[in-house]
Amino acid sequence: MVQRVLTGITTTGTLHLGNYVGAIRPAIAASFEGGVESFFFMADYHALIKCDEPDRIEASRLQIAATWLAAGLDTSRVVFYRQSDIPEIPELTWLLTCVTSKGQMNRAHAYKGAVDANIAAGEDPDAGITMGLYSYPILMAADILMFNAHRVPVGRDQVQHIEMARDVAQRFNHLYGRRPQADASRRQPPEGDDPARGGPSPDRGKDFFVLPEANVEEDIALLPGLDGRKMSKSYDNAIPLFEGGAKALKEAIARIVTDSKLPGEPKDPDSSHLVTIYDAFATAAQRSEFRRQLRAGLAWGEAKQRLFDLIEAEIGPMRVRYEALMAHPERIETTLQEGAARARAIAAPLLAELREAVGLRRFTAVRAAEAVGSAKAKSALPVFKQYREADGKFYFKLADAAGRVLLQSLALDQGKQAGQWVARLKQEGAAALAEAPVQRAEGVSESELAEALAALQAAQD
Ligand code: TRP
Repeated sequence: MVQRVLTGITTTGTLHLGNYVGAIRPAIAASFEGGVESFFFMADYHALIKCDEPDRIEASRLQIAATWLAAGLDTSRVVFYRQSDIPEIPELTWLLTCVTSKGQMNRAHAYKGAVDANIAAGEDPDAGITMGLYSYPILMAADILMFNAHRVPVGRDQVQHIEMARDVAQRFNHLYGRRPQADASRRQPPEGDDPARGGPSPDRGKDFFVLPEANVEEDIALLPGLDGRKMSKSYDNAIPLFEGGAKALKEAIARIVTDSKLPGEPKDPDSSHLVTIYDAFATAAQRSEFRRQLRAGLAWGEAKQRLFDLIEAEIGPMRVRYEALMAHPERIETTLQEGAARARAIAAPLLAELREAVGLRRFTAVRAAEAVGSAKAKSALPVFKQYREADGKFYFKLADAAGRVLLQSLALDQGKQAGQWVARLKQEGAAALAEAPVQRAEGVSESELAEALAALQAAQD
């Protein structure tokens, strides 16, 4: 079963070494595994929650996009996009907001932290807290559920958000999942069920959402900063990734806090966060050698030089690519537009299905459904046609009642395949579009096509 892996980075600043080690590097490595489909994005709607400086938002999303690409992201393997290029995400956010309990959001760490800080400062508990901050986990749930991600690589501080996404998904599935008793005649779960959507469930038809799981790389998920606390911009203890070049990297490493043991004195590697940072870039052999030398009295100054060399060997070539990319933002833009188109091809059909599920249905589709049985209405429905071309291949297309082609299949080797896809599109509607070997006909909008399929689907019984 193909596993979907999805992660995003909030675009409020430039990235530091902790973001690279904790998020970007493992995500890119995972994208090269077999049986994995990856979705990586710039969480720029989330950025608006934390930042009201337009120029900073603009610069940050460009820098972060360039960082992903420079770090070796292969956009032919990964769906790479900006959150704000996918209008289906805020739309899904609202659908999820309506099934999310307020009490659960009260318990979100980020919100609670802000409230506690206000109380400690003798302020009103909600002083300066926006609804954006409060609803942050719901937007994040939408990011994840929109693409039915199975795994979400994040830092440990984000695990609660993934749990919330699971809860929201479960609530939505429970409220709107199709129960066979209630509407078995309208829509059956597809044959064999679809494991990508959580597999068969005994008391219900197909679930809308996969329940996502957090992926925390246990040993290095929180890279320590200069002072040993979690590396974070807000603690001012970060080591920059590309910003300032090799010089800034070296200077930052020089400021890593160590104990005051003199050169020649044995050092305890296990109580030094410098060693933890070293470990994040080292092989097992390098790790044990570094420890051995520290125990043997390696000077901290020398240890810092080795740390610099180790990191620079990995980061230096990326920095060269980063600078080349930053000189051509228009190329990054093109890449992101392509990513957005791929993402929306998945998001739009699912959202159409969700709108339908909650009752936000086109009146035209309802009319078509109600009118089934009358020959006149039947003839107004779009029709699938299957045929064989001179090339010996099999095809099918969907045309509206007036004969205008809405959807065209690619060439198929067997007639049976065409028949099976037609059946599935009739049964599942737009939800099957992402997987079906089809192309929307020129000049036909996504919603037009979704509507035609919904009408056919509604007419199935
Ligand atoms: N909240 C995440 C962070 O600050 C960023 C993020 C937004 C995210 N949406 C996401 C991460 C979806 C994973 C999946 O780190």
